[in-house]
Amino acid sequence: MAALRVPGDKSISHRALMLAALGQGTSRVRGILESADVHSTAGVLRAMGVAIPVLGPDITIEGVGLRGLRAADRALDCGNSGTTTRLMAGIVAGSGLSARFEGDASLSARPMRRVAAPLEAMGARVRLPAHGGLPMTIEGAVLHGVTWHSEVASAQVKSAILLAGLVANVPVEVHEPAATRDHSERMLRARGVEVRTDGLVVSLLPGARLDPGDIDVPGDPSSAAFFAGLAALGASTGLRIEHVGINPARVGAFRVLVRMGAALRYEDLRDAGGEPVASIIVEPGGVARPLRGVTITPDEIPSLIDELPLLACVAARAEGETRVTGAAELRVKESDRIRAVVDNLRVLGVDAEELPDGFVVRGSDRPLAGRVVTHGDHRIAMAFGVLGAVPGHTITLDDPSCVAVSYPTFWDDLARVRHR
Ligand code: S3P
Repeated sequence: MAALRVPGDKSISHRALMLAALGQGTSRVRGILESADVHSTAGVLRAMGVAIPVLGPDITIEGVGLRGLRAADRALDCGNSGTTTRLMAGIVAGSGLSARFEGDASLSARPMRRVAAPLEAMGARVRLPAHGGLPMTIEGAVLHGVTWHSEVASAQVKSAILLAGLVANVPVEVHEPAATRDHSERMLRARGVEVRTDGLVVSLLPGARLDPGDIDVPGDPSSAAFFAGLAALGASTGLRIEHVGINPARVGAFRVLVRMGAALRYEDLRDAGGEPVASIIVEPGGVARPLRGVTITPDEIPSLIDELPLLACVAARAEGETRVTGAAELRVKESDRIRAVVDNLRVLGVDAEELPDGFVVRGSDRPLAGRVVTHGDHRIAMAFGVLGAVPGHTITLDDPSCVAVSYPTFWDDLARVRHR
């Protein structure tokens, strides 16, 4: 059994930087994800006057306090990162500052109305281009509290509202259509902020202070999922993936892999800074232990939204049909992931079909071959990288380097544990 550590959680890494920047005092962050997306957040905070050091395994950050950010003298470059854009929009609006948010072509096409609307309801002045993406400008205004009923199940939207309320020192209440990842809530509570969760309602009470924190970022379950899939497909020996976050709002993909027949279990369960963490053990599957297709239902989607490309690729090797519905959000991720997954699977010879809000994949054990178009989307690259590691498959990618967004060392780790 090979042991593996995946890089730090992306969602938690963004939040760790933002909350350290806004805290009153010195925060420490260990195990932060050093990837392009997190560099985008670091760059935006630096542009607003925070001395974020070069990212590394153990960094300390001097917070400027909830009112200490200053307007940047240039546009805020969010690169490829939706989390940077939407969470920082909440922070900028709450600060009463003005800013212009820019990003790459993929990010510029993604929907920002979902975050502009609640911020406007709090009194912010937000301007978007006609297509609703970037560049987005926010002009300084004083915010008031809000009760917001969100139409989309989005942790980024929820977090933007919570952060706007925190910084503007006004109460906010967010009603979600389905529960999404709650890292912001956990991290704010750990820093002395009063955040309440009651079913699908999250509220923040103003307190005018944010304590500094000391956080050890767990491994990203979304990154671990690629290796869980690899072992389940029998493309590696058994794997022990250490120190992975297993927040219930994030681990739907592990539950689905078990339903597909994978031998996956948790060991060494513990708490790390308010987040549950474990080692994930996956016994090798494949011919000896074939996987079967499953139905993934709309209520499961928020807990595995980022893992659907990987699950689609695993489904391509499972017996029978895998059906996903209620996942229309996939169309507005770093690429249209429904189309990207289905088109690429078909190119490789897999029987796959697009649905408006999901897809159907019929698995087979035929050897797969062809060239995958990633659309610069890190999770498309890694999902098909896993499928390409199955013995007998010949799969190439147009842009393997796009994994740098969330997992810069992915190809090295894959080469180390895959069967040759
Ligand atoms: C994230 C929330 C999710 C997820 C993204 C990270 C976060 O996006 O897909 O990768 O850190 O809050 P949405 O909030 O748009 O669903």
